[in-house]
Amino acid sequence: MSFVTRRKPVEAAAQAEGTHRLKPTLGWPHLVALGVGAIIGTGIYTLTGEAAGLAGPAVILSFAVAGAVCAFAALCYAEMASLTPQAGSAYTYTYVSLGELAAWIIGWSLVLEYTLVCSAVAVGWAGYAGGLIQQAGWPIPPALLSGPEAGGIVNLPAVFIALVVTGLLLVGTRESATVNFILVIVKLVALAAFVALTLPAFDAAHFSPFAPFGYGAVTAEDARKYGVMGAAAIIFFAFYGFDAISTAAEEAKNPKRDLTIGIVGSMALCTLIYMVVAAAALGAMPFSDFAKSPEPLAHVLREIGHDGSAALIAGAAVVAMPTVIMVFMYGQSRVFFAMARDGLLPRQLATVSGRGVPAAVTLLTGFIAALIAGAIPLAHIASLANAGTLAAFIATAIAVLVLRRRRPELNRPFRTPAVWLVAPLAIAGCLYLFTSLTENTIKFFFLWNAIGVVAYLLYGRVKSRLA
Ligand code: ALA
Repeated sequence: MSFVTRRKPVEAAAQAEGTHRLKPTLGWPHLVALGVGAIIGTGIYTLTGEAAGLAGPAVILSFAVAGAVCAFAALCYAEMASLTPQAGSAYTYTYVSLGELAAWIIGWSLVLEYTLVCSAVAVGWAGYAGGLIQQAGWPIPPALLSGPEAGGIVNLPAVFIALVVTGLLLVGTRESATVNFILVIVKLVALAAFVALTLPAFDAAHFSPFAPFGYGAVTAEDARKYGVMGAAAIIFFAFYGFDAISTAAEEAKNPKRDLTIGIVGSMALCTLIYMVVAAAALGAMPFSDFAKSPEPLAHVLREIGHDGSAALIAGAAVVAMPTVIMVFMYGQSRVFFAMARDGLLPRQLATVSGRGVPAAVTLLTGFIAALIAGAIPLAHIASLANAGTLAAFIATAIAVLVLRRRRPELNRPFRTPAVWLVAPLAIAGCLYLFTSLTENTIKFFFLWNAIGVVAYLLYGRVKSRLA
């Protein structure tokens, strides 16, 4: 069989990790908490400003579009996760359905995505940490609070948090369900407080004109894409992280019911929360006033006279956001693992230390994530992370359809409802969002994958276990 089309049997993928079956202990409330914990982060806390600057008040529609596309993709993820639990996410789904070359490309895209999400959340965290530092009057030069493109030298807090999380993972820290639950509550209470505090300042006049940059995605002189879809392509970042739920498929008590509620429930909850928070910010002040802030929610509160609450919201973001970095760094090591186990990456990379941690991968990811976070602006990082994620979503939706056709007999603990509608909608929606990214992002994404394909031809094609 040619290397392009050779596929791993689904059965092998389901067993390969060598994990014994996990106890089914999770009900849908756990799954919703898991999803919300991994999803809510820099997207709503920070990118809301950036996206509002691209779409104006119509950014509320951008949230709805991105949320819907993600929900369709999430339903496809759940079916694949229940077929091949715990084994490398979209990379494995592609390997068992579309073949090795496509799987490599998706794995290579996921490596890019996971690293960049860590950087992006670190930069978002730094925006709020920097605001707190300045509010407290600590003598840190502003040039050390932002990277070169934003007029500084290095974003030191972003480098700091990326390295701290790396250190925590290296000593074997894993976020417990209880900690996750507490942090979910912190994040939600902070957002609810934001809405409550901004309501008295609500002025409907700030919503007019509603869509000053139109509804599509139009490239402007500054090379950014404006309009509702341009903003949706960025704010899409706020919605992913639900792989955390789909990889828990094996642990769900009643996968069919609990996964559907867990996935659709956390997507719906997040979409609703995001739209309400965005509307509250937009109602409190003209979007152009907070669009450029590195800590938009705290900025809005400070401008309407709530200095103390602004510090509390920033504190909540600072406490709760590092877990999002943790989830994605952890995800990175799983994908590396799966790829190294299949022989497509050097096995040494996935070696586990005495503490049960894949130290080499974790160090490498943390170091590169810190480097990027220190130097590059948030919007650039987030949109490139989105490109990798959209590719993985498209591949997963295709994988579901291919396996339904080719292997209809497989036992699917969870089946995507209305799959012939949901999966094509996920594919079409993701493709549309992908083309709404900036041209530079799209170019870099293809360049990254061209490098990846060369690396595959030289190494993985020969070393693959299937070779
Ligand atoms: N959805 C995650 C966030 O917004 C990646 O931080």
